[in-house]
Amino acid sequence: MPGRMNRERARDEKTPVLWMVVHGLIASAIGIAVGLAIQWFPEQASTQADTIDHLYDVLIWTSVPVFVTVSIIVLFSVRNFKMRPGEEQLDGPPIHGNTRLEVIWTAIPAIVLVVLCSYAWVVLTDIEEAHANEMRINVVGQQFAWTFEYPQAGGKPVKSTQLYLPKDRPVRFYVKALDVIHDFWVPAFRMKIDAVPGIETKYRITPSRLGTYPVVCAELCGLGHAVMRSQTHVVSPTQFNTWLADQKAPAAATAGGKVDAKQLFTDGNGTATACGACHKLADAGTQGQTGPDLDKALAGKDAKFIEQSITAPDAEVASGFQPGIMPKNYSDTLSQEELQALVKYLGEVAGK
Ligand code: CUA
Repeated sequence: MPGRMNRERARDEKTPVLWMVVHGLIASAIGIAVGLAIQWFPEQASTQADTIDHLYDVLIWTSVPVFVTVSIIVLFSVRNFKMRPGEEQLDGPPIHGNTRLEVIWTAIPAIVLVVLCSYAWVVLTDIEEAHANEMRINVVGQQFAWTFEYPQAGGKPVKSTQLYLPKDRPVRFYVKALDVIHDFWVPAFRMKIDAVPGIETKYRITPSRLGTYPVVCAELCGLGHAVMRSQTHVVSPTQFNTWLADQKAPAAATAGGKVDAKQLFTDGNGTATACGACHKLADAGTQGQTGPDLDKALAGKDAKFIEQSITAPDAEVASGFQPGIMPKNYSDTLSQEELQALVKYLGEVAGK
């Protein structure tokens, strides 16, 4: 009978609340401990990273108890208020609202949200603060490569597919996309922003640790999304200046000796991505699977075809492969000498 059931439940009311609170506290403590113990992010390589990681920890502290509270109430209700034999035709006890409860469950989440939003806003203002002596770098995303432009070099901007940054110098990235939406992300710096065709997005970081860190595209942008990766090299200011000077005069850098085309093929040149990363070529010993096997695709082809395959890769795409996967920026990132050396080399060795 419904009357008897209600009385039984009323009698147990105090015990389950205590049970839920105790289990909730234990589960929250375990959840928070696990959440904080897991190394979610790579090593911190920017001055912004620590503030952001701290915000993340605070979110763990807050969200784990919320998740536990909801789960415990759901599990408790499933166990205690389920239909028992003989209750098939019965409705639950009529409830017409409980003002006190409703105020509590509206007010608490509202307060939590306002506090967290305010904190996040303070963090965002803090990490986005402008610095004197800020360096501008343009980041261009296209299917499926990143190009970094250094306009402060004077005259024609230096372009590179690898990102070089001097340690401790504040940088502001101006991010653009040429085709679809990409997302410029260096996990070690923590910051990340969409590259959207038609608009310019921006963010600031100050690299604080020497080393090499991955650049990732964090927005699904097509078949080559997974290979749209590059490297950030945080180097000393002196090394950076040397690198930039080398980039400004690529012809001079290679003028002394002949271009080693095989090495260019396997390693790239610091700005152009290595061909061997995506292509198989017996002579160079590379095993890339992303693009066509060049011993097959280029066998017996003339220099004109090979050059077009490098500078305008979508003009003719090998069967079984999709257009748009290979970066279209090789005419920018290879010097004329390097391009010709590569064409000559491929003509000599492909398919032999
Ligand atoms: Cu570009 Cu994903």
